[in-house]
Amino acid sequence: MSEVPILEVNDLSMVFGGLRAVDSVSLKINKGEIVALIGPNGAGKTTFFNCVTGVYVPTHGEIKINPPEGKTAILNGLKPNTINEKGLARTFQNIRLFSSMTVLENVMIGRHQCLKSGILSSILRTPKQRKEELKVLEDSYRILEKIGLEEYANDLACNLPYGGQRRLEIARAMATDPFLLLLDEPAAGMNPQETNDLVVLIQRLRKEDNISILLIEHDMSLVMTLSERIYVVDYGKMIAMGSPLEIKNNSQVIKAYLGEDIDA
Ligand SMILES: Nc1ncnc2c1ncn2[C@@H]1O[C@H](COP(=O)(O)OP(=O)(O)OP(=O)(O)O)[C@@H](O)[C@H]1O
Ligand SMILES: [Mg+2]
Repeated sequence: MSEVPILEVNDLSMVFGGLRAVDSVSLKINKGEIVALIGPNGAGKTTFFNCVTGVYVPTHGEIKINPPEGKTAILNGLKPNTINEKGLARTFQNIRLFSSMTVLENVMIGRHQCLKSGILSSILRTPKQRKEELKVLEDSYRILEKIGLEEYANDLACNLPYGGQRRLEIARAMATDPFLLLLDEPAAGMNPQETNDLVVLIQRLRKEDNISILLIEHDMSLVMTLSERIYVVDYGKMIAMGSPLEIKNNSQVIKAYLGEDIDA
């Protein structure tokens, strides 16, 4: 019997006015896989993420999850925070941190999101809630250690170097205990050293936290190093799927990337 994918997107379309930003895209992710979604600028990659994470309600298609622990669910029409509670967490192409809060507080907010009591009860300050708050703080610090940002815990998020801010976005997403992490251009703006560190981090998260990763990225060297499978979209349509080697040699992909270097 073949494996049940943890994420199964069938025939997804997203239309804005007359533009089919995503056009009948189907994609599957198996447990423990690192999968990349690549394509030229404006191909529909972020829109695809926005549909899967509830930012947009897709015009057509089905988004289904089979969490490793938990029930099969259809995500269409659910709100972003409900989808997050179901175990999908994401980062954004344009960094979205609380810049005037500390690095630790940014992770704590992510952690609160996955607790039933929420942030309001922690303001009420009963002993039970104080205990829970302490646990949130400890958990958040542990996540910072895992991501390698603990030395900046009390710095303001806006004072982190750019690569650090991108890592903090990952820390905040990890704070919600996802089974699937969706990363939208995690290496954008990083220097080569920061990008190498990111590769190691993503591999560690998969191994140590048993999560799967769907990754949008323009850095082809990173994509080819990390991914087991790659999906390629162009003008909203899926034009190829395969191993890094298959994608590198696919003539349609080479044509879509004409003028760009995918031979990384
Ligand atoms: N909210 C929206 N309203 C109208 N058009 C949109 C909206 N969001 C995206 N688009 C359009 O949909 C298309 C796909 O955009 P999208 O941001 O998904 O591309 P992308 O593959 O993520 O590109 P990039 O690599 O530059 O980030 C583009 O033509 C974009 O202008
Ligand atoms: Mg994008």
